[in-house]
Amino acid sequence: MYLITGATGNVGGLLARQLHDQGHPVRVLVRDPARAADLPVAIERVAGDLSNPDDVAHAVKGVDAVFLMQVGGGTDQTQIMIDAVRDAGGSRIILLSSVGARLMPISDNPIIGGALAAREDLMRESGLDVTYLRPNGFASNALWWLDGIRAGKVVVPTGDGRQAVIDPEDIARCAAVTLTENGHAGKGYTLTGPEALTAREQLATIAEVTGRSVDVEDVTPHEFAQAQIAADVPAGQAQALEYLNTVFSKGRAAYISDDVQNLTGRPPATFRTWCERNADAFR
Ligand SMILES: NC(=O)c1ccc[n+]([C@@H]2O[C@H](COP(=O)([O-])OP(=O)(O)OC[C@H]3O[C@@H](n4cnc5c(N)ncnc54)[C@H](OP(=O)(O)O)[C@@H]3O)[C@@H](O)[C@H]2O)c1
Repeated sequence: MYLITGATGNVGGLLARQLHDQGHPVRVLVRDPARAADLPVAIERVAGDLSNPDDVAHAVKGVDAVFLMQVGGGTDQTQIMIDAVRDAGGSRIILLSSVGARLMPISDNPIIGGALAAREDLMRESGLDVTYLRPNGFASNALWWLDGIRAGKVVVPTGDGRQAVIDPEDIARCAAVTLTENGHAGKGYTLTGPEALTAREQLATIAEVTGRSVDVEDVTPHEFAQAQIAADVPAGQAQALEYLNTVFSKGRAAYISDDVQNLTGRPPATFRTWCERNADAFR
């Protein structure tokens, strides 16, 4: 039995489905089972919150391995999962981390990346059999542009910075391999798409695939953060995004790895392929 978290989000739902289709028993931990209604009925639903130790302890009972997707700022959910897995007598966790956990910080305040690295450190110190999946930005982040695309103009704070965005389906396929096969404990995999694109290039692809024309307005990461704060986004959140956009604008997430190909035997999907599969979401 495999426990999948984040099953209503970008990767967890795809992963639960893939494992189910491969014939594996699957349990999902979801805050609201109604939101997981479209998953196959044979998938077991456990209602619970990753921040609640009792919920997590209940969810990990009898599972062979856990796919852990964490949200929230710190390491609380990491420690809760480590304790629960250890208490249940299990050992294997596939951690959805990020390339941000291993990018060299560009300031003494590496917001987001610092938190991601701290989670990995805690996992390493736990002594459990942990596998670290470190994806680049998700192709599905393009859906964050939806309002701008519908309005005809998207504000871009990453300039000419390229990013090798990855299709969440490919992350899920890598997670399925590392969950169901032996030999991945203690290893980290950098998961990227096959090409590094600027935001402008991604938006041009969306325009070609959907037939919607999209204008682009370039701003600096700082200008973008200030506009967010003016629009009542909490300052800490805007500052974290400013840091991230600075990393992207400097091209720090532009590199391409072959880990998807090596793990799954298939090359990762292009951004265009992801767009074609999700074109309806942009219409
Ligand atoms: N987006 C990227 O570019 C990117 C890149 C690298 C790494 N990552 C990592 O990928 C992960 C997913 O990122 P995402 O932003 O794309 O998220 P997402 O897929 O939208 O997933 C959020 C999921 O978390 C669930 N969730 C939230 N809080 C929860 C809680 N307290 N207890 C249980 N479940 C909870 C949500 O469920 P409900 O709301 O339905 O309850 C939803 O299924 C994050 O760990 C992030 O660091 C993301």
